[in-house]
Order: sequence, then structure tokens, then C-alpha cells
Amino acid sequence: MALEKKPSKIAVLTSGGDAPGMNPCIRAVVRAGLAHGVRVIGVNNGYEGLMNGEFRELGARDVGGILLRGGTILQTRRSLAFREPRGQREAIRRMNEAGIEGLIVIGGDGSLTGALALHKQGVNVVGVPGSIDNDIWGTNMAIGVDTAMNTIMDAVDKLRDTASSHGRVFLVETMGRSSGYLAVMAGIVSGAEMVLIPERPSTIEEIAKAVENAYLRGKTHAFIINAEGSGHKTEDLAKALEAMDVGFQTRVTILGHIQRGGSPTAYDRLLASRMGVKAVEALMTGKSGVMTGLQGRNIEYIPLEDVVAGKREVNMEYYEMVGLLAR
Ligand code: F6P
Repeated sequence: MALEKKPSKIAVLTSGGDAPGMNPCIRAVVRAGLAHGVRVIGVNNGYEGLMNGEFRELGARDVGGILLRGGTILQTRRSLAFREPRGQREAIRRMNEAGIEGLIVIGGDGSLTGALALHKQGVNVVGVPGSIDNDIWGTNMAIGVDTAMNTIMDAVDKLRDTASSHGRVFLVETMGRSSGYLAVMAGIVSGAEMVLIPERPSTIEEIAKAVENAYLRGKTHAFIINAEGSGHKTEDLAKALEAMDVGFQTRVTILGHIQRGGSPTAYDRLLASRMGVKAVEALMTGKSGVMTGLQGRNIEYIPLEDVVAGKREVNMEYYEMVGLLAR
């Protein structure tokens, strides 16, 4: 639904798994909103907070110093209740009551699906992609991906020191329940032998071969990056490799939620700032039901309908590149 007039009060929330860069995006929304002469409300605790009316007005000083902070000052939730029409109706009632005329949702797939549901019920909504998984259709990069990838790279760089000293293979588990993007790109920048991803199942024999080949080529260390949704439990895989005697001793490192924390990189701060400004501009010019998406060099408006229906695939060329470069 297009806005009939410029809104005078808009709101912003973060939803789903947090991602480094959400704070710079909140800051951009608040400051761009103020520059447009609108009041900006921060909604605490994602859609849960929207249903409960957890609102607070944000001024320029309230978002001071958050450019460099990981996490989200608005906090976030994964809300089951909001998936139900009843929860959505409650959220709309709360927004109307508070005079909120536009909403910016920063989050991943599930959060953007929620945004589309609100849009279909007449709420003016703009989505901003935030998820370390980079599995959101319609944007080359989501907020948080670059920081998470740098965290993985940093961890593997450190593990390499000890791996080389002992002649070991490390199985490093990354996040990515249903997407191998992080694992593949981290595999390239960290010099892994092989990556295990949900999109391309690998057998234990293939994995053992890759490790053994690295040993035979005279390497002093080897890395296998295992995305959590690959189908291989990292600990079980380690036991299997030990039993197969692949040359190296085997060790496991599960990076877990470390990947979701930390100060956002320059790339993520920039992307988040650009998307926050563009999201406000969308509401100011009567757009709704769209997501800010990085396309080439520009931030474009992508219909939420398409975003939710699409699935961002891993480019298998990059998957192959990991093996190609591990000589
Ligand atoms: O979607 C982002 C993500 O970090 C996934 O990669 C991971 O599987 C999941 O969230 C973890 O969720 P939670 O923080 O609820 O444990």
C-alpha cells in the first residue's frame, strides 16, 4: 500500500538471529528519519515487542556510539506468536494506537516473511536484510556476513599455528543451518582443503581422501570447514577420520555464536548505513512491501514477495574453488 502522505512517525525493529551491523543500521534509520523530520520509535524485542507495545522514542544521542557495537541495542527475538494472524493483528493494533505510520524490519528470512504479512494487511513496511547466513534472495550481501566471515578467518588463522606445530587436521564448524555460503567463502579465505555444505552432500570417504591427499602432498596442517547443516556431525566426523588413519591427528573447533558477535567490519558498517538510509527514503516516498537489496553497486528496492519466494543459492564455482586452491 502506498502512503498517501509522508509519515510523521516511523518505527524500527530487529528480529531473528542478531547480526553484526544491526546497530549501525538502527543508527542510520534514526538519524536519516530525524533528517527527514519524522519521529523514530525503537521497538524492543522484535515482533514480540511489537505485539506488546514495547516502544521508546529514539533521538540522535540515543544511537551515539553504537556504530561500532555488535548485537542490537533493540534486542531481538524469534517470535512464534507473531506467525499467527492473531499476533499480527495485535501488532497492528499496537502500531495504530501509537500512531506509527511506517515500520522498518531488520532481519533474516523469517523476519522478512513477517514484514510481508504486515504489508499485506495494509501496514507500510520496508525490510532490511540482516543475517550472517547470506541466504536472503535479492541482495548480494546481507548485513553481518562480512563480520562473521572475518571472525571465521581469524579463528582459522590462529588454529593454523597450532595445527602446523602438531601436524593436525582441524574440523572447524561454522554456522549455516541451511546455507553453505559462509562455509564456502570462509573456505576460500582461510585456505581449507574442503568445505562441507548442505547444498552438496559429501561422503566420509571423500573427506578422508581430501585430508590424506593434503598429508601426502607434504602439508603440515589441513582444514575442513563444516557448515552446521551439512549432514555431518563434526564430532562424529572427527572420530571417523581418526579411525581411518588419514595421516594427521584430528581436532575439532566449533565456532558457534562467536560468529554472531563482535564489532562490525567497515564493510558491514557501510552496508548497514546505506541500507538504513535507503529504507527510510523508501517510507518517505511512499514505498512499502520492499527490501533494500545490494545489486551491483547500488541499493535497490526488491519486492518482499519475491524475496520470500526466492532462495539465494551458493555459487558452486566458489565451492569448487576451495579444492582448486588447496594444492
Ligand atoms: O540464521 C542465523 C543463524 O546464526 C544460523 O546460522 C544458525 O543456525 C542459527 O542462527 C542459530 O540460532 P540461535 O541463535 O537461535 O541458536
